Amino acid sequence: MNRFKRACVAGWPISHSRSPLIHNHWLSVYDIDGAYGIEAVRPEDFPGFLASLGERGYVGANLTVPHKEAALRLADEADAVAAAIGAANTVWLDDGRLLATNTDCTGFTSHLEDTAPEWKSHDGPVAVLGAGGAARAIVYGLEESGVAEIWLFNRTRSRAERLAEDFGSNIRVFDWRERSARIGDCMLLVNTTALGMTGAPELEIDLGMLPATAVIMDIVYVPLATALLRQARARGLKTVDGLGMLLHQAVPAFEKWFGVRPRVTDELRRIVIADLAAELC
Ligand code: ATR
Repeated sequence: MNRFKRACVAGWPISHSRSPLIHNHWLSVYDIDGAYGIEAVRPEDFPGFLASLGERGYVGANLTVPHKEAALRLADEADAVAAAIGAANTVWLDDGRLLATNTDCTGFTSHLEDTAPEWKSHDGPVAVLGAGGAARAIVYGLEESGVAEIWLFNRTRSRAERLAEDFGSNIRVFDWRERSARIGDCMLLVNTTALGMTGAPELEIDLGMLPATAVIMDIVYVPLATALLRQARARGLKTVDGLGMLLHQAVPAFEKWFGVRPRVTDELRRIVIADLAAELC
């Protein structure tokens, strides 16, 4: 019997995905007979692509922009995380049925636990900047961790209010312009927007009001040291960069497809950082 297993990431456009680098590294480290490739799939071709995943020789796939919402709709069964977030980033075949989940949420919580074990969910309110897809995954993870309160700041207030309605009564919505003045008691602040990413506008915020023991996390990882993280370090605050979330969200997907739970190591981190640096040169 052929034991060779294949998975892929499907998106449109897809050229910037680091997922092949991560998964092929693990396939080599754990000596697994398999491969992880890239599939550029136009939105109109996506339903057909997903329906024929097995025929194409895949045991599963990652989905990225713009396919995550469609994957949730088209899967035979989605778990509670994907349903709550409203998007699936991982699918796998199980006895001919296509199952779906979203691993961004555990990517966030695993990375935070790994990097800032001193942060405890009951320490104080958490400030979340942004209310898009990434924010939904992170808010779900925070709720699962048992945080008492989430303070949500988003440019479009109505979108933050929708997210608060979907996720729980412990979410308070603030105006975007209040993001520096109203974070005084927060013990964790997470930027879930793309602000601060190379090519995007800067995230303008003053961290001066935060307690000295607060933790600052950015989901942006290009550059690795964003202006937000640099400002936090200058104040002596603990920081958590965005790369770990990318690496940790790949762990449960790899385990589903290939049957081994891989480790996020310094070596993998160095490989991905080198690849990011090469692209920027
Ligand atoms: P993702 O899936 O990566 O979260 P998204 O769903 O498009 O992407 O969400 C992007 C987030 O960044 C949103 O919170 C967006 O704010 P709006 O809801 O007001 O659009 C936020 N964002 C993007 N550009 C921004 C800007 N220039 N200033 C403030 N917030 C911005």
